[in-house]
Amino acid sequence: MTHLLEARSVSHTYAADTPALRNVCAPVRSGALYGIVGPNGSGKSTLLRVLCGLLHPNEGEVIIDGQPLRRFGARERARLIAYLPQAVNPAFSLTVFEVACLGRFPHAGFMGALGAADFEVARRCLRDTETESLRDRDFLTLSGGERQRVLLASILAQEPQLILLDEPTSSLDIHHEVEVFDLLRRLAERGYGVCVVTHDLNMAAQYCHELVLLGLDHAVAASGPPAAVLSEATLSAAYGASIRVGTHPFAGTPFVSAAAGRESAS
Ligand SMILES: Nc1ncnc2c1ncn2[C@@H]1O[C@H](COP(=O)(O)OP(=O)(O)OP(=O)(O)O)[C@@H](O)[C@H]1O
Ligand SMILES: [Mg+2]
Repeated sequence: MTHLLEARSVSHTYAADTPALRNVCAPVRSGALYGIVGPNGSGKSTLLRVLCGLLHPNEGEVIIDGQPLRRFGARERARLIAYLPQAVNPAFSLTVFEVACLGRFPHAGFMGALGAADFEVARRCLRDTETESLRDRDFLTLSGGERQRVLLASILAQEPQLILLDEPTSSLDIHHEVEVFDLLRRLAERGYGVCVVTHDLNMAAQYCHELVLLGLDHAVAASGPPAAVLSEATLSAAYGASIRVGTHPFAGTPFVSAAAGRESAS
């Protein structure tokens, strides 16, 4: 079944007049990988929290398959939408396998009991994220990048329809970053709707079907296919900095680079 999650004209201001989103429209449709990009503080994490139903915006609405998302209960939402926040700091220690199994709880039976099929899903998700060899390690002893991949396994184990991830590759080495983007693209091609917040515009250009670019004014500066969004004029205005765009030497996609202070002044 295909799903469509949409932020419709969403605006949000946190307490003390801190605007975070202004009139933002953003879709997440089954079968496509979406990227949310933009400068620090532009509202990307806020938009993701709004899209997964954790934050109710001051204005506008989030709609899933034609129904307001706020009408869905937490468990029902968790079966549809998985959300990986930007920072996860568990307060207690669990093994890697237990963290992967946490993703199964929206599907658990009576009294939260998990069965053999749930454990098999958790094992498969550890394999998909190349973390199977860590399965008996204490999660708190892992490196930042290892933790990110295990958390991704836990999100995948949730077997949702829509997957929202906030900077899931920020601590990953170059190999694992490519592997995660490749996995997200494959998940989209298998029919999931996937939305990833990232600062890596070149990865977004190579792997995402559609981008939403937020600007420093917390509004959508551009949205659409990467080649349409990633232009020098649009990016320079959105980031308030001099941005250069060429062509990636291997992928042929837009290749984005920020000019350093001295270069941009010249
Ligand atoms: N809980 C909060 N209370 C008050 N202001 C907040 C809160 N969370 C975010 N903000 C503000 O809202 C704006 C958008 O924040 P958000 O975290 O969505 O940005 P972001 O695009 O994800 O940034 P980054 O790239 O640094 O992660 C910022 O100005 C931020 O300071
Ligand atoms: Mg953020």
